[in-house]
Amino acid sequence: MPFKNLNDVKKHCENLENISIFLGYNANVDALKYISNEKEFYELFELLNGDCKKNLNKNLNENLNENLKIDINKVIENMEIYPREIKTVEEFLARLILAMKSGKPVEIPLISADLSPKFKKWLENLKFNEERIGGQVGIIANLLSILNLDKIVAYTPLLSQKQSEMFENKGSHTNIYYPVSTNEGDIVLKNINKAHKNDETKINRIFEYKEFSFEFDNKKIEVPRANRLILASRPENLRINIPDETKTGLSELGKNIDCAIVSGYQSIKEQYSDGKTDEYYFKRAVEDINLLKSKNPNLKVHLEFASVQNPKLRKQIVEYLYSVVDCAGLDETEIANILNSVGYSELSEKILKNSKIEDVIEGSKIVLENYNLEMIQIHTIYYIMFICKKIEDKAKNDIKIAQLKKSLEFATILASTKAKNGLITSIEDLKMGLETPYNQYGDLLRNLVYKINESTSEITYNDYNIVLVPSRLVNNPKSTVGLGDTISSGAFVSYVADLKNNNIL
Ligand code: GLC
Repeated sequence: MPFKNLNDVKKHCENLENISIFLGYNANVDALKYISNEKEFYELFELLNGDCKKNLNKNLNENLNENLKIDINKVIENMEIYPREIKTVEEFLARLILAMKSGKPVEIPLISADLSPKFKKWLENLKFNEERIGGQVGIIANLLSILNLDKIVAYTPLLSQKQSEMFENKGSHTNIYYPVSTNEGDIVLKNINKAHKNDETKINRIFEYKEFSFEFDNKKIEVPRANRLILASRPENLRINIPDETKTGLSELGKNIDCAIVSGYQSIKEQYSDGKTDEYYFKRAVEDINLLKSKNPNLKVHLEFASVQNPKLRKQIVEYLYSVVDCAGLDETEIANILNSVGYSELSEKILKNSKIEDVIEGSKIVLENYNLEMIQIHTIYYIMFICKKIEDKAKNDIKIAQLKKSLEFATILASTKAKNGLITSIEDLKMGLETPYNQYGDLLRNLVYKINESTSEITYNDYNIVLVPSRLVNNPKSTVGLGDTISSGAFVSYVADLKNNNIL
């Protein structure tokens, strides 16, 4: 057990204090709506239909054709169609019910330009419970600030005043900066709270549901576990992109940092009103990473995947970017989706259906080898796992395994703290995570991985370290949004700190 008490955790955090990181590209405001029980679920319909529990049964639904009422039959139809972009309230509610049925994390784009009047009215009537910083850059910057990293350079194209003020410089020193270009083409780092521009604020609507059951279309639906559906806005002005004047300073910036986490590619559109295309933005994204690394070949880059609805976009993220980054962070659905888009549909289906760790490992190895990644990190509700190549020297490799394990242990403490408390406000808070027990499948999972690692017949895995730590599962999480980002960034910066501070890995 690498962390026996809070002091051990604090000591681990000290290792991170000399790390500097670049984060790009997505920050936004998350407006959170909690759906904790049947009543709160039906209220979503009542926003337009009035008191309507009985109307949710298809047969009692004759009067619902008025223009501004939710058409339950259409919701039911849409549940079959499985819409991937949302323009109507019926499409949205269908996807929400499907997401709740599966208990899996989902993000779907809201096409605001074509919203139906009914959906607009519904959105206006909806009351949110709270607002928080969102997007990988936003969530990770605030977490790493508390962990006292040296410098966090957080770049997001849209930085309104509201957005910039939601970054919280809560470390022992100001550590979240925004890169600003000078006339000479250099980058200067400005306290992000003072760096806002005249931009719009991107707001995503998050529907966080708990574990409960409800009746819909005369059927009982059991929500297997708490999770969230994100209705993500796609402002036309949001271009996932570093502008030319800032790009010129990226190679110098890269020299002064140790690592980077890139994410947010799910917001790239196939076509923009000015004729630019997805290819244009992916090529620029590759350039950004190459520039950051150009004067610092040791710079480690982690790509955090996300819930991407469009299969073409998924494939592009993998094909353009996985070959230039070092580490990839994914949840179980994301690895399945990737496998599907790069031609392994059977394995993908198996993972989605059975959640078997053996399949996840097989899939990870395929992705790792095909794109020459240094490491893949997978997080699911039951475990966090690193898969990477072994070091030949056995003694060194054993130390490496211990270090990787420690990074994952740290990540699961961060995640359970956030799940329990909703937020992490200080390093002291991590006591809550540390006191949360591992989930009930912990020993089983550890054993499975032990067997895979030991088995001589499993030659396929002889060259790999497969390191797993069970999650410390919180039963009624306060919130789930951002847990994956918390895990990935915690595990990645710990890994980079080990590389930097003791040269073993
Ligand atoms: C995605 C969403 C964002 C959310 C984040 C959490 O980036 O767009 O709204 O905060 O995921 O992981």
